[in-house]
Amino acid sequence: MSAIDYSEKIPNNVNLSEDRTLQRALEHWQPNYLQWWNDMGPDGSQGFDVYLRTAINTTPEGWAQFGHVKMPDYRWGIFLAAQDQERKVNFGENKGEAAWQDVPGEHRANLRRIIVTQGDTEPASVEQQRHLGLTAPSQYDLRNLFQINVEEGRHLWAMVYLLHKYFGRDGREEAEALLHRNSGDQDNPRILEAFNEETPDWLAFYMFTYFTDRDGKFQLCALAESGFDPLSRTCRFMLTEEAHHMFVGESGISRTIQRTCEIMKLHGIEDPEQVRSHGVIDLPTIQRYLNFHFSVTIDLFGADQSSNAATFYSAGLKGRYEETKRTDDHMLKGDHYKILEVSNGKLVEREVPLLNSLNELLRDDYIKDSVAGINRWNKVIEKAGLSFRLQAPHKWSDFV
Ligand SMILES: [Fe+2]
Ligand SMILES: [Fe+2]
Repeated sequence: MSAIDYSEKIPNNVNLSEDRTLQRALEHWQPNYLQWWNDMGPDGSQGFDVYLRTAINTTPEGWAQFGHVKMPDYRWGIFLAAQDQERKVNFGENKGEAAWQDVPGEHRANLRRIIVTQGDTEPASVEQQRHLGLTAPSQYDLRNLFQINVEEGRHLWAMVYLLHKYFGRDGREEAEALLHRNSGDQDNPRILEAFNEETPDWLAFYMFTYFTDRDGKFQLCALAESGFDPLSRTCRFMLTEEAHHMFVGESGISRTIQRTCEIMKLHGIEDPEQVRSHGVIDLPTIQRYLNFHFSVTIDLFGADQSSNAATFYSAGLKGRYEETKRTDDHMLKGDHYKILEVSNGKLVEREVPLLNSLNELLRDDYIKDSVAGINRWNKVIEKAGLSFRLQAPHKWSDFV
């Protein structure tokens, strides 16, 4: 079940050849995808052999193989984590039912919207990063960039598979539209604002992969809890690939800081302009990049009070981060959560129903995870004997 069939035109572990209609529809989408990759994917990279990992299995042991591939020949495909026959809907009004193998009619529109919104972010990031290969600091970084790009392409495939298989004609139309919206396009932009921002340089890329790919992790974790089992299985396998993306960000920033600190110590300087004159990035500039990427990313979690978030949860479509590890009733009726509100020009805490605050809860979980990495960067600065400290903007700075 978990082994991937590479003899097919579209590699997959979902027995695609047994569903001729679906296979034909996806084979029709495939050249459009490749056209998009050629037009909007990594600039000037198409003819080169790149050492890349490709998924061969969806079990944790030995799930990938490495080899040289020209990127347009990368074997993008459809890989779902193995099905658990016993799996249940684990939260919301339908808690305890067998997990759904098909889309429940009444949740069709909401599920489609969730999948399209997630799917839209995947090609968007490839578009945002398309020129970075031209200025890569090293071959190591270049390979990481391309690895991330091909995997974001595969995440698009993951969402397109769900749209084609479970949403009929509207699903096919949405799959086409995912190739036609473009990051930053005036007339037809990507759905979420952070995915229309530019990623103009490598510090922005590291910040993006640290902060914005981490938003991806939290969204995918919440969707991996979904009662709609194919979505859950899809997201669980995507998370396997996601870990590396965040590592690239964290280690990239760490290396940048390390070098800055070395230069500051070597020359005994702290003035940003002097630091920059030695060809490294001064720490206040790194703080400003952090502020920007942190801020646009926390916006991705949506309004702090949201009736949609309550509906998605109660319907069993989107859970909390680590839903099944939590020990409450997984219904959350009558529970409360503290959010911040502006009152008379001041921020004050207010208790509101938890069900309406699930965006804020996911955002807070995300912030804790993000801040852990900021602390690790500060360790690098501290070790160098410097007093500067990076911090997350606003209220969360007291986590640092
Ligand atoms: Fe992704
Ligand atoms: Fe990613």
